[in-house]
Amino acid sequence: MTRVALAFSGGLDTTVCVPLLEEEYGYDEVIGVTVDVGQPAEEFEEAEETAEALNLEHYVVDAKAEFADLCFDSVRANATYQGYPLGTALARPVIASAILEVAEEQGCTGIAHGCTGKGNDQLRFEAVWRDSDLEVIAPVRELGLTREWEQEYADEKDLPVEGGSGGDWSIDTNLWSRSVEGDELEDPNYVPPKEIYDWTDDPSGDTEEIEITFENGYPTAIDGEEMDPVSLIEHLNEVAGTYGVGRTDSMEDRMLGLKVRENYEHPAATTLLNAHEALEGLVLTQEEREFKQLIDQRWAKKGYEGLIDAPLVSALEGFIDETQKRVTGTVTIRFEGGQARAVARDSEYAAYSAEHASFDTESVGKIDQEDATGVAKYHGFQRRLANSVIDEDD
Ligand code: ARG
Repeated sequence: MTRVALAFSGGLDTTVCVPLLEEEYGYDEVIGVTVDVGQPAEEFEEAEETAEALNLEHYVVDAKAEFADLCFDSVRANATYQGYPLGTALARPVIASAILEVAEEQGCTGIAHGCTGKGNDQLRFEAVWRDSDLEVIAPVRELGLTREWEQEYADEKDLPVEGGSGGDWSIDTNLWSRSVEGDELEDPNYVPPKEIYDWTDDPSGDTEEIEITFENGYPTAIDGEEMDPVSLIEHLNEVAGTYGVGRTDSMEDRMLGLKVRENYEHPAATTLLNAHEALEGLVLTQEEREFKQLIDQRWAKKGYEGLIDAPLVSALEGFIDETQKRVTGTVTIRFEGGQARAVARDSEYAAYSAEHASFDTESVGKIDQEDATGVAKYHGFQRRLANSVIDEDD
């Protein structure tokens, strides 16, 4: 008996894949796997109910803690791609690995997803699965399915799909971000209606301050209360969300080159990224900060590609680990006007000297204002020479 494991959400795409894997790909049995990376409870109910109605053997794997750890790695790398903190992107390898594990345990020889041939997720899933010997199957892409065809097929076969749950948008939610795309939102010139937002309220006049503690670049506590990564993220999504923090509306350049209009909500991510960067500003030297931007950008790119296990990422993390040894301290964030702004920071590793920087004190000992005169004479010297020659030529 041949078995195939399917990444299963209970939505239209993955539901039609169940009979298709038998009819078109000749498998005797399909098993469905849903991986918990912090989706809302309704999504699991929908998957569970649909699986039951399909008579599908269904597995649910909890990968929230592992995913939250990866989100915190991304904070240490200040990781965003075109303003997007990578929620979907970082979740994919975690989901793909969990499904592969179930597939292998259950003696499957095939593994399938319901992604189309246009998006990033097919690439992220398959990068993980093609490390194995299993047959990788993408029915929607390979059979060229459209939503209309899927809906008709589902009606014909009497498959359990409640058309249009969540409106006509395609929504992907996990701990780190909520993404909304499709339908009218595809038009870059269409202003999104309020209803697309679920995690964030419109910014109001209210403000609040919270203090975030970091140890070696990892967030560990809010207002002095220690929290595990999953609880800390959930808590911040709640609090920052009420102040309208963390909305992104952007034109995203996908891996295949397509430009797609994307809307995201990510209150916790925005808050933690801003706080982390503020603390780095206090403890790292100017050249470390500047060089780290290159490292961070590369980390984010690999994260976007779903290739977080590439050797390059380990090498980048060598640098990140070294710098994060001093990223320990607290940052006060003020939620105000839809922003999460750092308004205070403190660390035992501050590369800051009040004595030297202050406008108020006569410098004691080491720095005399007069010493800067020589530097001021040389600053911009080459450009002065070059410009004088250019002026003469005119
Ligand atoms: N464009 C984003 C990415 O590739 C998110 C896509 C989320 N999918 C969705 N159906 N909303 O990472």
